[in-house]
Amino acid sequence: MDMKDSNKSLSISILSGKGGVGKTNIALNLAYALVSMKSPTLLIDCDLGLANLDILLGITPEKNLEYLLGPDTRVEDVLITLEHGLEFLPAASGVPELVEWDNDLQTIIFKKLNNSLSKYHFLILDLGAGINSTVINLAAISRFKIIVVTPEPTSLTDGYALIKVLKTKHNIKDFFIIVNMAKDKKEGTTTFQRLKLACENFLGIKINLLGIINEDSNVSMAVVNQVPLFKFKRDSIACKNMEEIAMKVKKYRELLVPELTLPFNLDILKKNINNT
Ligand SMILES: Nc1ncnc2c1ncn2[C@@H]1O[C@H](COP(=O)(O)OP(=O)(O)OP(=O)(O)O)[C@@H](O)[C@H]1O
Ligand SMILES: [Mg+2]
Repeated sequence: MDMKDSNKSLSISILSGKGGVGKTNIALNLAYALVSMKSPTLLIDCDLGLANLDILLGITPEKNLEYLLGPDTRVEDVLITLEHGLEFLPAASGVPELVEWDNDLQTIIFKKLNNSLSKYHFLILDLGAGINSTVINLAAISRFKIIVVTPEPTSLTDGYALIKVLKTKHNIKDFFIIVNMAKDKKEGTTTFQRLKLACENFLGIKINLLGIINEDSNVSMAVVNQVPLFKFKRDSIACKNMEEIAMKVKKYRELLVPELTLPFNLDILKKNINNT
């Protein structure tokens, strides 16, 4: 590992307007793919309503993000090692009052994360679907935003709505799009072009295509078996698509390294408090 890179973590949020488009599977397999390319990675379950990375991994964590709200608790005590170089921070599932954390609670947790995560190259946040304030805030404080859509029209309109909120509320203009569950490359490209046109014409922003993932029954088979696709069937089309995406993400990090500082920009949360 290059020493000058050693305290440069790229935070990545995985977002979608519509639910069930594949965010959790993408977060999980992207993490495995990045680790296989020698990039230490932390996978953080931030889906506070319906945490399910633990289910996809077939594990039952004892502690979770909620534990970090305690005054003297340490991030290291919550981490679960999945592989050499890959760690997992579970979410509190089914705790309704936590579905919408206020800015103070978010600040407590992400300050702790900022101070103890410099050894990772990537911090991947699996978020819930939609545009609730937790999702919007956590997207805004992370450096690299990935929006997942599928060719379904409702997924596209909901994805557009999410981009619109992030643009109007936080003036975010950098988005990377993954089209998941595409029948073929052509359907994936057409889907991306539709979203791209809408974003250009109505929001005045240019979005980037990060990758297309084929519809592949191996994904749901891996889910049923509670094993990441990367371990279940690495030679499947969907897994290869996700490995290509991981390679691109790794290249983006290398480009961004000179300007990376703390992984999460918590000033955004302060600004928010002042605004409301
Ligand atoms: N490329 C794919 N091909 C086929 N099926 C897929 C693909 N990606 C995801 N799926 C299916 O979609 C289901 C939902 O995926 P996942 O849980 O990752 O979505 P999500 O966006 O995280 O959902 P939520 O919004 O509820 O958090 C999976 O259980 C799987 O069966
Ligand atoms: Mg999910």
